[in-house]
Amino acid sequence: MASEEWREDETPEDRDFRVLMEYAHGFMVSQVVFSACDLGVFDVIAASGTADVGAIARATGSSPCHTRLLLEACVELGMLRVGPDGTFANTRLASSLLVAGSPRCQRHMMLYLAGTPYRCWGQLGRAVREGRSQYGRAVGVDTEEPFAAIYRSEPERLLFMRALQETWSVCGGHVLTAFDLSPFRVVCDVGGGSGALACELARLYPGSDVTVFDTPEVIAAAQAPPFQSPGIEPVVHFLGGDFFRSRLPAADLYILARVLHDWTDEACAGLLGRISMAGGAGTALLLVEALMPPEGDPAGPVRLPALLLSLNMAVQTRGRERTEAEYQALTAGAGFSHFRVVRTRGPYATMLAWK
Ligand SMILES: C[S@@+](CC[C@H](N)C(=O)[O-])C[C@H]1O[C@@H](n2cnc3c(N)ncnc32)[C@H](O)[C@@H]1O
Repeated sequence: MASEEWREDETPEDRDFRVLMEYAHGFMVSQVVFSACDLGVFDVIAASGTADVGAIARATGSSPCHTRLLLEACVELGMLRVGPDGTFANTRLASSLLVAGSPRCQRHMMLYLAGTPYRCWGQLGRAVREGRSQYGRAVGVDTEEPFAAIYRSEPERLLFMRALQETWSVCGGHVLTAFDLSPFRVVCDVGGGSGALACELARLYPGSDVTVFDTPEVIAAAQAPPFQSPGIEPVVHFLGGDFFRSRLPAADLYILARVLHDWTDEACAGLLGRISMAGGAGTALLLVEALMPPEGDPAGPVRLPALLLSLNMAVQTRGRERTEAEYQALTAGAGFSHFRVVRTRGPYATMLAWK
């Protein structure tokens, strides 16, 4: 995003031009990050602490001349630093978030963003004009069903699951400690994917009994490596089904993390109604979503990120990001008359609704 600061001697017209070019070139910054991850640049450097251009080019099977350009761009973006001897080292950002195997690693998220979302964003204008997702043109799967396109092959399903799992290594603790969840013993994470958030909940609340509910294909993958280690009993249960049709397990607390934003209001109301029925009188609901600022809110720091996430939903799903008031209305419609929200550190808010 363009720097808001005025530069010395910059005229308003010069600033306009600079800002416009920074916006227009934003996709190049994304591609530097994605390509460096895909080539394994940060992993090669991590293996030896520092490495020169020749060694990195050899290890990644790349052109030395173009590798130098990529590495220098990574330096400018704060992902690498260059030493007095001309060798490159990972910065804290890269060591923590981009080196494979680091506990907070987001590498699969970068690889996923480089594929399906990047290609869908290439069709943004058409998505806006037609008011629907663009999977046919973007990834060659002619469907408006988000998960038919995202899960178009076994490797793509696995990549999506690994990408989403990585978020919770950074944000899981924030969203699960926003409220004290210890009163809820039986918990069901509906659309829980690989189970990363559910496992974090089981770790934070040792008395809980947690089930991950997702499609049968996702559940089968979630019970195998790399999500589970052979011979080690998972700390959560897994159940496969269709949350719009199958019977949902009874629970004291249902979690819906990054699920409602995929769907229309009508589909959300249907899903919330089914959860309300399955849980009975005393049940509660924990929603984890990026919140849109309230209608008419003056432009603030979170407004653009929320709008971009909502446009991402437009190019990829049938849903959108919503305001706190919209989530409150949706949950109230399903019989959850109480509602509280906590904005956590990071991009997500946690909302607790109860009857
Ligand atoms: C955006 S992902 C969120 C995953 C997880 N809650 C997280 O935040 O990492 C949405 C999840 O809903 C699941 N899902 C979509 N449609 C479903 C359906 N009809 N029945 C069960 N799960 C479904 C997907 O497989 C996916 O895991």
